[in-house]
Amino acid sequence: MTAAHPSTDWTVSSWQRLPARQQPEWPEAAELQAALAELSSLPPLVTSWEVESLRGQLAEAEDGRRFLLQGGDCAETFDECRSDAIASKLKILLQMSLVLTHGGGRPVIRVGRFAGQYAKPRSEGQETRGGTSLPSYRGDMVNGLAFTAPERTPRPRRLVEAHAHSAITLNFIRSLVDGGFADLHHPEYWDLGFVQHSPLRDEYQRMTREIGQSLRFMETLAGSPVHEMRRVDFFASHEGLVLPYEQAQTRQVPHKTGWWNLSTHLPWIGYRTAVPGEAHVEFFRGIRNPVGVKVGPETGPDTLLQVLAALNPANEPGKIVLIHRFGAHRIAKGLPPLVQAVAKAGRRALWTCDPMHGNTDLVRIGTGPHAGTQVKTRKFDHILAEVEQAFEIHRAAGSWLGGVHFELTGEDVTECTGGARGLSDEGLMAAYRSRVDPRLNYEQALEMAMRVARRLGD
Ligand code: PEP
Ligand code: CO
Repeated sequence: MTAAHPSTDWTVSSWQRLPARQQPEWPEAAELQAALAELSSLPPLVTSWEVESLRGQLAEAEDGRRFLLQGGDCAETFDECRSDAIASKLKILLQMSLVLTHGGGRPVIRVGRFAGQYAKPRSEGQETRGGTSLPSYRGDMVNGLAFTAPERTPRPRRLVEAHAHSAITLNFIRSLVDGGFADLHHPEYWDLGFVQHSPLRDEYQRMTREIGQSLRFMETLAGSPVHEMRRVDFFASHEGLVLPYEQAQTRQVPHKTGWWNLSTHLPWIGYRTAVPGEAHVEFFRGIRNPVGVKVGPETGPDTLLQVLAALNPANEPGKIVLIHRFGAHRIAKGLPPLVQAVAKAGRRALWTCDPMHGNTDLVRIGTGPHAGTQVKTRKFDHILAEVEQAFEIHRAAGSWLGGVHFELTGEDVTECTGGARGLSDEGLMAAYRSRVDPRLNYEQALEMAMRVARRLGD
């Protein structure tokens, strides 16, 4: 295995010399080159100054002055690039951030898993059904979900389509935000229809009323409207998995040094690819963006320190977001050694908790029309238990849990069980729409934010 390289060796393509996990096998080299050439010449999706602003905010979160809320779909799909789905996602993220700011007394950085979350790592390269084996679905950026050879064959044009769908998504988000959609004077604009029936409605509405009153009080005091309250920022993030795509959108910009991955503000390295000396760590060590890194049961303190040394040799603030995902039953044993190692080495990073990916269960539906069907789900109580333990573990270690990372949707799906309405396994098939991992639905996400806010306020 290749040792870490001195930073002078980095080029935008130096990762190509190293083993790269989870890459599709593209059938057409010429088509792939054509798609990448097109991607390299298309305008970027985000700007370097937005990325710098996010880095500044993440640096403050490291010091306990802000809190990061990262959330969205496990996998975005081209089909779901629709105005209602995007607006609902923004609404739930806004509502959660309001609840977290109110409870935690700190500004919240909103980062969506959106506008580029189109590639998925898979545990098996092939999927077999009834004696037929085809490549696994790796996200709309790579291939299609339908179990047919043409759909499952990786198609390079999808890289360009992913960029286009990301651009359409971001364009809509930016217009909504600029148009006053996120105006704190009107939290009722962010209401989602079914909140009317939610058991949490009263608590949430009490909070928005209080915020409205404080805002009016401030405006009376200042003698003028508080315009800054009319807009909030959203940043975009996705797993930087398919390296040729990331490379094609990575550039230099006038008047600044270094290379910027302008396909998103915050790319992250997945759990399966955060390996020192391999291609993903090599690629991401060369860019100016902040970089997320998923860590979990298999990571180990030495590996983590090697990854941090490679990605952030100068130990800059606002550069690394560590996203731990152990599972409610493993965090108590797994997290403390990592926190201690990072503290002892004096490494700067923002610690955040992803309580989703270590808590996935496979259940078999017992009764009803779907009896016998196996589904991937997560229990609300396991998700909550992991976040609560994360707060405790960081506190005990003298560290700061500066953010949370959820898979969620602004829609009324039935993919995770539990929560205030007590969704059971039997109810899962009513509106199970995720293609990959189960997401918190709108109500469960809001409830989770309320529970996390209580902890933050402690
Ligand atoms: C994900 O965030 O969807 C994911 C695949 O996570 P992880 O890399 O932590 O398994
Ligand atoms: Co996922």
